[in-house]
Amino acid sequence: MDRIRLVGGNELRGEISISGAKNAALPLMIASLLTDEPLVLHNVPRLADVKQLERILENHGVDIAVHGRRRGEEEGVGQRMTFHAADIVDTTAPYDLVSKMRASFWVIGPLLARCHEARVSLPGGCAIGTRPVDLFLYGLKQLGAEIDIDEGYVVARAPKGGLVGATVSFPKVSVGATHTILMAASLARGTTIIENAAQEPEITNVAECLVAMGAKISGIGTRTLTVEGVEKLHGATVEVIPDRIETGTFAMAAAMTGGDVLLRGARSEHLQAALDILAQTGTELSHEANGIRVRRNGNGIQPVDVDTDPFPGFPTDLQAQFMALMTMSSGVSEIRETIFENRYMHVAELARFGADIAVNGQVATVTGRPQLKGAQVMATDLRASVSLVIAGLAAKGETVVNRIYHLDRGFERLEDKLSRCGAEIERLAG
Ligand code: UD1
Repeated sequence: MDRIRLVGGNELRGEISISGAKNAALPLMIASLLTDEPLVLHNVPRLADVKQLERILENHGVDIAVHGRRRGEEEGVGQRMTFHAADIVDTTAPYDLVSKMRASFWVIGPLLARCHEARVSLPGGCAIGTRPVDLFLYGLKQLGAEIDIDEGYVVARAPKGGLVGATVSFPKVSVGATHTILMAASLARGTTIIENAAQEPEITNVAECLVAMGAKISGIGTRTLTVEGVEKLHGATVEVIPDRIETGTFAMAAAMTGGDVLLRGARSEHLQAALDILAQTGTELSHEANGIRVRRNGNGIQPVDVDTDPFPGFPTDLQAQFMALMTMSSGVSEIRETIFENRYMHVAELARFGADIAVNGQVATVTGRPQLKGAQVMATDLRASVSLVIAGLAAKGETVVNRIYHLDRGFERLEDKLSRCGAEIERLAG
């Protein structure tokens, strides 16, 4: 299995191009199931999770084409891809495909809306808590679906004539359930009101894609989405937004190591809460025409307390990276994880660098140290893995991150992007 070896201590200086957002690309790809016309996506990142979803969509009968780079286009620019679901040949999403990635469960919405039936294996993905699907099932039932659980599969059937619009009032904010109900409601008969919807920028990207495909959605970007169902959706061309989690990750890496990095293409309105927190740690952030510049001032890293929250709050997907930064602050900070109950697997690994972190329920208390020491560590989930890379970049001596397949699920050319900014980092094969 591949490993990453890095030697810490170098400041990061230069430019990093931000890739297309994984968490937008995946649901946009899934939206292609809603129409028999081609959906063209620009700026799709080259990631293991994208590849895995391609396999799942192909199993349903989607034709997928990757287009070549345009003349003059930089290397590393996101892929242009066409997804064409002319005929859905199979409405089952089998266990061996779905179990690797939770987002693949979301195909249940469009399959049910378009084909009036779906049989989708219960999902897998990162082991960060139990991650149930009750909110999805509640929403689909509200739209008239009949749901059974059969040998690990969710079997859903629409009423005769298809799904019917309804009010779906989520008791808890869920990104995946919002995507799923939004897609399903676009092809339902009548009006659906989604209350307590997720407001993440990726939801807006998908909602705007659906509108470009002919859906009628209002309230985009707010807590309440209203969808007037239409009979048919058509093809469209849509751009995947830049990855705000990748942006925040590199911003924290630069804050940790010092230096001066331009995050090209980053959009600050997508991660304002995280940027505000970073500013409080003593990081200088300036908004430039082509991105965000990150510099650390000379006063060290100040401790700051953080609670994770649904958007527009501080994202849970940056919690591990922020914790890595806090391990070298000049005091004590408290981090409260409110989204997932088991998202502290990186704590034990960060401790190998000499970090001082005590976890009590939802709260991690991080006492900063002047210096971390390189270590052998193990990647546990996607965002946790990259927190170990950040710690390694600032630690003294050599770090080896084992089991890095999690990183390849969500970070495009991580070593390449960091080494171009002066990091000593390489991938060791096998
Ligand atoms: C998405 C993101 C993930 C991010 C998370 C929270 C993608 C591909 N993944 O995951 O990177 O960490 O949002 O911002 O976009 N829940 C229930 N019942 C349900 C569904 C969810 O209780 O039916 C709970 C979850 O266990 C969790 C919380 O709701 O505690 C939020 O989860 P959710 O927003 O659904 O996360 P995902 O969509 O899986």
